Amino acid sequence: MPSVELRQVGKIYHLDAVAVPALVDIHLQIRPHCFTVISGPSGSGKTTLLNLIGCIDRADSGTVLVAGHNVQQMSDDALSEFRARHLGFIFQNFNLLPVLSAYENIEYPLLLNKVPAAQRKQRVGALLDMVGLSERAHNRPGQLSGGQRQRVAIARALAAAPQLVLADEPTANLDSQTGAAIIALMRKMQKELQVTFVFSSHDPQVQAAADDTVFIRDGRIVEVHQQLPGVEVGA
Ligand SMILES: Nc1ncnc2c1ncn2[C@@H]1O[C@H](COP(=O)(O)OP(=O)(O)OP(=O)(O)O)[C@@H](O)[C@H]1O
Ligand SMILES: [Mg+2]
Repeated sequence: MPSVELRQVGKIYHLDAVAVPALVDIHLQIRPHCFTVISGPSGSGKTTLLNLIGCIDRADSGTVLVAGHNVQQMSDDALSEFRARHLGFIFQNFNLLPVLSAYENIEYPLLLNKVPAAQRKQRVGALLDMVGLSERAHNRPGQLSGGQRQRVAIARALAAAPQLVLADEPTANLDSQTGAAIIALMRKMQKELQVTFVFSSHDPQVQAAADDTVFIRDGRIVEVHQQLPGVEVGA
């Protein structure tokens, strides 16, 4: 079963009297346990597509299946719960809570999922170790570098053991060396934890690290590249 499947999906934004078709007739299957990049020029619909997959926004037409669930049919409350249990997010601007320490930011999704204290402590400690920030556990985001903040964000996205992690331009605010280290870290964690990662990115470094690349232009998929020949889409 694909991790994500979109069938005939459309999304239209309405600005005053003008309808902006942001996504048109999208058919897409994301393979599980792979690293997929959504690539395309500015305004092509990458963020819109990620927001539909991440259940942050809803499609206007078609079917969106995430981990086998038809998310189009879920209520807003059910979607919030679904997001907290199954999805992790990494953002371009890191979106960490500024008053919380690195440790507390990573712990936050575990609190939302009512994970018991002893288990939380163990999980956050293990994640801090994996992203190489055990020494910075008590620093707030303002006391960390950009690359370190994105490491905290990666650990936070993975804290609640999601099936799927979505990242919108995760290296756009980092210099290329730090970006490369962040990509390598995401790749390592994706393999170790057997998570499905979906990214949007203009960054050739991110595209080079991907298993699959989906090229999008003017709201339409124009090409899909799979870098592992012989592995069937949706297998
Ligand atoms: N809230 C909105 N209201 C109206 N139009 C929108 C809205 N959000 C996006 N759009 C339009 O939808 C299209 C797709 O936007 P989207 O943000 O998905 O592109 P993108 O590929 O992520 O671009 P970028 O690389 O610049 O982040 C664009 O034409 C944009 O102007
Ligand atoms: Mg975008």
